[in-house]
Amino acid sequence: MTNKRKLLVTAALPYANGPLHLGHMVEYIQPDIWVRFQKMLGHTCYFVCGDDAHGTPIMLRAEKLGITPEQLIAESYQSHIADLNGFYIGFDNFHTTHSPENQSLANEIYQRLLQQGDITKRTIKQAFDPIKNLFLPDRYVKGDCPKCGANDQYGDSCEVCGATYSPLDLKNPISVVSGVTPIEKESEHYFFCLDHYESFLKEWTKSGHLQTEISNKLDEWFTAGLQQWDISRDAPYFGFEIPDSPGKYFYVWLDAPIGYMASFKNLCTQNPKISFAEFWSKGSETELIHFIGKDIVYFHALFWPAMLEGSHYRTPSNIYVHGFLTVNGKKMSKSRGTFITASTYLKHLDPEYCRYYFASKLGSGTEDIDFNAEDFVQRINSDLVGKLVNIASRCAGFITKLFGGKLAVQCSKQNLYQEFVIAGDLIRTCYEEREYNSAIREIMRLADVANRYIDAQKPWILAKSPQNLLETQEVCSMGINMFRILVTYLKPILPQLAENVERFLNTKLTWEDRNMPLINHTIQPFKPLLQRVELNEVIAMTDASKENIPPTITLTDGPLILDPIRETISIEDFAKIDLRIAKIVNAEPVEDAHKLLKLTVDIGGDLRTVFAGIKEAYTAEDLIGKLTVVVANLAPRKMRFGLSEGMVLAAGPGGKDLWILEPHTGATPGMRVK
Ligand code: 2FM
Ligand code: ZN
Repeated sequence: MTNKRKLLVTAALPYANGPLHLGHMVEYIQPDIWVRFQKMLGHTCYFVCGDDAHGTPIMLRAEKLGITPEQLIAESYQSHIADLNGFYIGFDNFHTTHSPENQSLANEIYQRLLQQGDITKRTIKQAFDPIKNLFLPDRYVKGDCPKCGANDQYGDSCEVCGATYSPLDLKNPISVVSGVTPIEKESEHYFFCLDHYESFLKEWTKSGHLQTEISNKLDEWFTAGLQQWDISRDAPYFGFEIPDSPGKYFYVWLDAPIGYMASFKNLCTQNPKISFAEFWSKGSETELIHFIGKDIVYFHALFWPAMLEGSHYRTPSNIYVHGFLTVNGKKMSKSRGTFITASTYLKHLDPEYCRYYFASKLGSGTEDIDFNAEDFVQRINSDLVGKLVNIASRCAGFITKLFGGKLAVQCSKQNLYQEFVIAGDLIRTCYEEREYNSAIREIMRLADVANRYIDAQKPWILAKSPQNLLETQEVCSMGINMFRILVTYLKPILPQLAENVERFLNTKLTWEDRNMPLINHTIQPFKPLLQRVELNEVIAMTDASKENIPPTITLTDGPLILDPIRETISIEDFAKIDLRIAKIVNAEPVEDAHKLLKLTVDIGGDLRTVFAGIKEAYTAEDLIGKLTVVVANLAPRKMRFGLSEGMVLAAGPGGKDLWILEPHTGATPGMRVK
């Protein structure tokens, strides 16, 4: 065929210093669906990624754990691969930036840029930690804002007044690594002259490679002027040493996007039929597509095309930018307990629920998408269980019992069948344009049509009269055929379900084959394809995420180490929490919830119901009559079992090891805890 495309698709490389979380899964599920769709249409499409393994945070984290950076990145690699497989992310290759391919490509690109005068050197002053002998990245210096005086601000910007500045401008600065006051120190740095590429970039960013909202955003950066980019870091640094520059290393963001090329190069080594040059040479007729989050646009839409142009490689065909994941409308946060790791999710819930849920929310824009437990449950149960799988479960039993698994010899409702086939054109456009939410809306509209057809035909009544047997078979076969088309359309989103349905229907689900109904064809007996999801399972998953929070302030044998990504609350926030002594006047188990007890607590004459996840640690009898501490002004939370009107405070890692706070006798219910 002539219109076959050759695509190389990438997803942003995750840092190799911690587990993947659900935000990463938005990043990987979005392109995975797109790639599976392109492959389904018969295009050649390679999907590569890998770990982003360099930089100061990785070096310091390894040090804190008492291991080498190489050990840390090897562990992260294993955990990332396990999570990606768990979510059915079908990378053709998942490599690492700490690889020989990446080093040689980074050196080559750098040397080409150097040769043509795009690299300049100059001495700059930076904050330096005299204890650790380390130049400090901006986020590793904290102090008082030079503009408004707010305490405890990072070295690059103030979260209170929005000012941006250099760490050297902070008042009362401290090094987050050692706690000492940093000194100013000079060092020679290497800069990439981004300004040399201004006219190229102005043209490139307006030529259809970017979403409009992104190219408009870039205008602001052009107006502000393109700055030369500091691409070097001093030892100690975990990365690649710059050629002929002892003690100088490439900044992690220089070799990170080159990691896309390196991963692909490694794939070519594994499969010599794939040509590196075909995909990366200037003038290549293949397509290079990057999926990224909106926080890393500057690197991908300015530095990266300029580096490629300057080193005589092809530039990206498209950069598709997506939004972030929020949980209950807020940024995922360790301190709020909404930091859901991929592995915690996988321990509790089916990955395809998540793929479907995200897809149902994803469009082509850069808006954030929200994870909300009730909404998640409703979406899965109503769409996948109530609408989709229901079609098959209503029809398959009759086909098996009455017709030995054989579908009818003809398609009785050609018009209806054609409606389902033709809808594929719209669905295909939606996938191509990354409007997965619209694709799902159309697929669910069709599922409603199919269910209405079955409602109207009533096979369960037809099946009762022998003279209607043929019609029963035709109606149920029609139902199965509509189901088959719908699962074909959902295959990029639900690859495992599609595989199970392929086994059930004894046929492969392909975009082309949907044009012809399955007739006179034997199917397997129906087995349940998807379980309903219960709210308490999702709550168990989010509760487990709360338990997983690693301690963020650690006393080591050295100085106090503050984790730079820890979020803090202000004293005003803290003052809002109304803590009260409460007497537990009743406690009872909650049916179907293995962790919950339903407590009735007396807060000074005010009786409240509180569901507490402490059943593994206490029996109901243990608790009745005890005094404890509750958060009295928590907004009531609707749970599957009823309304929870507060929260009991407990300490411990969770499960059996959990202790409610018990005040001394003398405290009385309703007393405020200070
Ligand atoms: O922001 C991040 O998580 C980076 N590790 C993304 C790198 S993408 C590419 F450029 F390598
Ligand atoms: Zn400020």
